[in-house]
Amino acid sequence: MPLVTRGTLGVSQPRPAARSKGGAMESVEILKREHRTVLLVVTAARRDLARAVETQEIAEVQVERLLDFFRYFTNSCHDPKEEDLLFTALHRRGLSWDDYPLRQLVREHEEMRVVLDSASDLLSRVKAGDGAAVPSLLHELGVYLDLVQRHIAAEEEAAFPLVQELLTAQDLKELSDAFAAVACEELEEGVHAYYTDLAHELTGTPASRPA
Ligand SMILES: [Fe+2]
Ligand SMILES: [Fe+2]
Repeated sequence: MPLVTRGTLGVSQPRPAARSKGGAMESVEILKREHRTVLLVVTAARRDLARAVETQEIAEVQVERLLDFFRYFTNSCHDPKEEDLLFTALHRRGLSWDDYPLRQLVREHEEMRVVLDSASDLLSRVKAGDGAAVPSLLHELGVYLDLVQRHIAAEEEAAFPLVQELLTAQDLKELSDAFAAVACEELEEGVHAYYTDLAHELTGTPASRPA
């Protein structure tokens, strides 16, 4: 994992960030909470994958639910909050899209989408009776799980600490408001609750709901 230094970040003209942040780090806390949910599912998926590699048999319904979780919770709910809100705020404070870490993180989002699409196509073939697609599907699932785990570690080690470092108190307030607006939409649509419940079902852990 490359170490983050100012010289490698593509920070062209760093502007002074206000130091009084008022503890307004809700955006990062929300993303970290979502990472914990994703990593729970990754652990469950690895368990299922190890079993499938041993037997060369796919539990089709379970794999479909895993792919569903990653495609919607991770690709559609989580990644846009990073790209459209958090990374964009960091970019406005001087972090280049063309340098580490933003370039790598955005590229990995795309890579993960491509691998998931490929896995979905392979699952369709398996469901249609094409046994030859089983090893490829297992391989793609393994690639995806490695990728998502490395990606989350890179975000938490390289990108999230920069939020505190580069954003002003006003930036953080605006970011929190934007996250709250998205959370409201997710709440209204019920997507977050649905996929959090699905994560607990997939991992066999009890869902904890706020009182
Ligand atoms: Fe990400
Ligand atoms: Fe993330």
